[in-house]
Amino acid sequence: MTDAGTPGASLTVRDNRTGQEYDVPIVDGTIRAADLGKIKTDDDLPGLAVYDPGFTNTASCRSSVTYIDGDKGILEYRGYPIEQLAEGSTFLEVAYLLIHGALPTKEEYAAWEHEITYHTFVHENVKSLMQGFRYDAHPMGMLMSSVGALSTFYPAARDIDDPANRHMQIVRMIAKMPTLGAWSFRHAQGKPYVYPDNDLSYTANFLSMLFKMSESKFEPDERLVKALDVLFILHADHEQNCSANAVRSVGSSQVDPYSAVSAGIGALFGPLHGGANEAVLRMLRRIGSKENIPAFIDGVKNGNERLMGFGHRVYKNYDPRARIIKKAADDVFEVTGVNPLLEIALELEKIALEDEYFVKRKLYPNVDFYSGLIYEALEFPPEMFTVLFAIGRTPGWLAQWNELVQDKEQKIARPKQIYTGERTLDFVPASQRWA
Ligand code: ACO
Repeated sequence: MTDAGTPGASLTVRDNRTGQEYDVPIVDGTIRAADLGKIKTDDDLPGLAVYDPGFTNTASCRSSVTYIDGDKGILEYRGYPIEQLAEGSTFLEVAYLLIHGALPTKEEYAAWEHEITYHTFVHENVKSLMQGFRYDAHPMGMLMSSVGALSTFYPAARDIDDPANRHMQIVRMIAKMPTLGAWSFRHAQGKPYVYPDNDLSYTANFLSMLFKMSESKFEPDERLVKALDVLFILHADHEQNCSANAVRSVGSSQVDPYSAVSAGIGALFGPLHGGANEAVLRMLRRIGSKENIPAFIDGVKNGNERLMGFGHRVYKNYDPRARIIKKAADDVFEVTGVNPLLEIALELEKIALEDEYFVKRKLYPNVDFYSGLIYEALEFPPEMFTVLFAIGRTPGWLAQWNELVQDKEQKIARPKQIYTGERTLDFVPASQRWA
């Protein structure tokens, strides 16, 4: 639980430079950085600041979207445990929950499903834009650009103070993301883009846009639809992660949500974030067989490389999502046959969970360790893995953005720095320097 704090709790700070003492209030287990700013050696000098690269111990907002206890391996969306949502809900219902803060009534859900289904199509010019990419364009680059481009199709989205307008853009983005994701996949294959089939469920329609060929109606295996839907649920939000922070940071300038979410997609693209599942698969392929695992582990321990899919900034225990994914993997493999890389992954996990290097650093499998294996079994090339993550994460980004723009305490994100460069040098024009 978050430490709600004792009323009136405070921290006494003694500045040994001046001998002065300060009482700093503690609220919700935090102190305000601005209160530290009052600690000064001279009224004319800047106050004390905190240095926190990567924000490892800095709360940037108050949020009621997602709760994580990394030590205990707990993840809840709006208070509901991820295990229960993965078991009994659907991605669209979870999206509703994240955005609205509560589960829908039957009527609310029907309206939500209708709205999302109604907005799956994109303007034909978006299609032309996507067709302009090189044949080998990374689908994440295509997704990031096309989501950013949507801001030009919906200029009214800039009116972020109007709740109805915000709702419209949220619906559009959740609805269109599978269309853009699927088209970036078809593009690389040189196949025609498939239009949405609004008779299908959200996830079944996505599979249809990915894999439909000449058949008049695409009929996906319901077990695969369910597995992909669960994967979307698991990725739907994860509080202040790198991409949510990017969405919030860019959104804090009051730009439209398409621009903010496209920044989030950029953040997710990186191998330390959403790109990790792609990296896991490449790593498993490189290891090749169980016999090569000990030498690989030695290389990791010697600092030559990282065991991708292991470790997490927040989870210092088994990532709860990794547990659910392992189960989803079994369901998918029942349909597709077992991915031969699974054997290597299971052995790697077994060795790493017993090895002192990983145990001491509390490095456990994260959500990406097994997700790539499922995606590969579903016949996605590794470049598409992060696109799937982005589709799942969209409601989370938008819930975080919606919360940000209504939060009166938020300001434009603008951290401080510790300046380490030169000062007051005298500029000599090039004509004299090079003479
Ligand atoms: N393999 C080997 N050693 C590792 C790994 C790993 N995967 N992760 C962390 N470590 C080691 C570090 O070398 C460091 O060791 P040291 O104390 O001897 O220097 C220690 O564990 C702490 O690591 P940090 O890098 O300080 O941890 P941080 O919280 O900054 O990084 C991160 C978290 C980026 C996820 C890291 O664990 C990592 O790179 N993992 C591999 C990439 C990955 O799977 N990313 C997906 C994350 S989940 C997601 O975004 C959806």
